[in-house]
Amino acid sequence: MGLTGRIRVPSDKSITHRAVMFGAVAHGVTTIHDPLLGADCRSTMEAMRRLGATVEERADRVVITGTDKMASTTIDCGNSGTTMRLLTGLLVGYDGTYELMGDESLSKRPMGRVTVPLRERGANIEGDYAPIRIRGSELGRIDYTLPVASAQVKSAILLAGLRAKGETIVREPMLSRDHTERMLPLFGGRIDVTIEDGVRVIRLDPGGLKGATVHVPADPSSAAFFWAGAAIVPNSRVTTVDVCLNETRIGFLRTLERMGASVSIERARPLGEETVADVTVSTSTLRGIELGGEAIPHQIDELPLFALVASQATSPSTVRDAGELRVKETDRIRTVVTELKTLGVDIEETEDGFTVRPSPIRGGDVDAFGDHRLSMMLQIAALLTDDPVHIHGMDVSDVSYPQFHQDLQRLGREIE
Ligand code: S3P
Repeated sequence: MGLTGRIRVPSDKSITHRAVMFGAVAHGVTTIHDPLLGADCRSTMEAMRRLGATVEERADRVVITGTDKMASTTIDCGNSGTTMRLLTGLLVGYDGTYELMGDESLSKRPMGRVTVPLRERGANIEGDYAPIRIRGSELGRIDYTLPVASAQVKSAILLAGLRAKGETIVREPMLSRDHTERMLPLFGGRIDVTIEDGVRVIRLDPGGLKGATVHVPADPSSAAFFWAGAAIVPNSRVTTVDVCLNETRIGFLRTLERMGASVSIERARPLGEETVADVTVSTSTLRGIELGGEAIPHQIDELPLFALVASQATSPSTVRDAGELRVKETDRIRTVVTELKTLGVDIEETEDGFTVRPSPIRGGDVDAFGDHRLSMMLQIAALLTDDPVHIHGMDVSDVSYPQFHQDLQRLGREIE
């Protein structure tokens, strides 16, 4: 019944999006080794093609020839918030008109967090929800303190800064994932990060990018499903190899350690701008914990999984300060609570999180509501009961993890 084996999960979604966008506006050729080819990153690749870049898919890499003009066009961002928010920032300084659309879920997600600060520096944008209409304009300097910990907002403002007339300063009271800041210098971006009075300050000078070579590590947000599965499914031991070990991304691994999980991190080594390692998690007795504050942005995408893991601990757990979950692909506080309740979990919704008490999982009919991370969390939950669990719309996991179900079966089958 346990999960055992070694696996390299698909490559990092956030890093792939950025490498494709930066390569498309850079002068020359960019080679991205081991990109993620899930639906969200395909939305970004297709967008960059429509804007005029050449994006070629080879066996294990994507080769991009950048363009210095962005052709006027309409872009379908699909389900991808990263595509829509980062592209809005990237495009506002180009000479053209652009319309960004999305699917039903993306059309309900707030874009004002990006459009409001961009308008402050002179951007001409219509709409605070998709469709977003952009008419390129001259951009001035900005000194902006992020009101929410969001790497997408931070990145959109920085990308607009590449074509602005003055400096871009972004102040970040709470650190969000930092792949943009790490990767821009590789493409020749002029960026500087300091800490001033406890606040992280990012300064970017305008200027063009040049092509680069990027190696994409395995995605910790995808590995997290197997870390969770290994921790809670009896008799499990799973090693995920080449995982990005960026501290802004592995909050969930630190959470598992705090809960008493058996975690070992081996062969830590640099890969381009990031560090990768092989991470092994084995089944252990877990205790409940309280999660909140600065720990939240570093595991925001893993909190649905935390709810499941917490249900298998020996004492209750609480998540607070996670109101951002309400504006993800679904309202992830609401959907996690309703679907886990259906599977027998004693879980209660709060305004900015949830409380979970130890509960056995039972079978039932649940819905992924078009949310990839909810689908994968429910597939892990299904391993904890012999009763049937029917997951409506399970295939949506392709958004970030093509073949998730097959990988899960492979790790499950090896011990039979
Ligand atoms: C992402 C940032 C996070 C995360 C999303 C990917 C990124 O969103 O939830 O899956 O690549 O920048 P926020 O910036 O809205 O927190």
